[in-house]
Amino acid sequence: MTNNNKIKMPDGFDYQAFLSLDSTNKEAVRQAHMGAKSGFWISSIEQTEGRGRRGRKWASVSGNLYCSLIYDSQSEIYKASQLSFVTTLAVCDTVAECLEGVDVKCKWPNDVLVDNKKISGILLETFSKTPKDPIFMIIGIGINIQDHPKLTLYEATHINEHTKTDFNADDIFSILTQKMAYWLEIWNVQGFATIREQWLKHCKGLGENICVRMPNEELMGRFVDLDSNGALRLAIGDEIRLIHSGDVFFDTTKNNKRK
Ligand code: BTN
Repeated sequence: MTNNNKIKMPDGFDYQAFLSLDSTNKEAVRQAHMGAKSGFWISSIEQTEGRGRRGRKWASVSGNLYCSLIYDSQSEIYKASQLSFVTTLAVCDTVAECLEGVDVKCKWPNDVLVDNKKISGILLETFSKTPKDPIFMIIGIGINIQDHPKLTLYEATHINEHTKTDFNADDIFSILTQKMAYWLEIWNVQGFATIREQWLKHCKGLGENICVRMPNEELMGRFVDLDSNGALRLAIGDEIRLIHSGDVFFDTTKNNKRK
């Protein structure tokens, strides 16, 4: 089922909007199989099998934004981690544009926080038609606009909770696609160093004590910065640990119960 309201896309991008999908990431894979090219967005009003990081579910009722971008990163898998920071900056800018004067921050690795609450989620997956074919990235983005799930691992919020304007998914998709084109261009021209620098400027907890939860380990330490590929550098005593994936909690949230 598709929804045909036309949204103006930046040059080099196109999209197809759906009323209901299992997951926009799954649809992006199907579309890529059918020949969709880099720069093609999929959006859906609702998802019946929305997916989050680490196999979690992503609640996907109508009113929020669910979309995925097919992106050709020239089979360079290491770029996936960089791309997740590029995407976070685009989401951060999108939310900041809607919420003037509100505290919008990035949280490692790829969350955006408003007043310390999670407002979005990013799920990057890779796709290749056959093992010999180029590897594409599928960049899945969810932004809470009209509602947010309760009882989540990290407290959540939504855009309209912070403004009198009644934003809808089309409004936010239209801003996001422009911001994404902008940050992809910055990344392609200036490289990851600029992305890293901008992300660090807008992140929460730099230089502070944080807790990082991984499947089999929980570490407390000082958030030093990111390495040149985006891994989190955590100081534990005299040692620096490089963290490649995990959930970060700050002082105010460290008592959250593991789910
Ligand atoms: C997270 O766990 O924080 C990431 C959530 C990513 C959700 C988005 S919604 C659009 C796209 N389709 C999915 O099934 N997941 C991503």
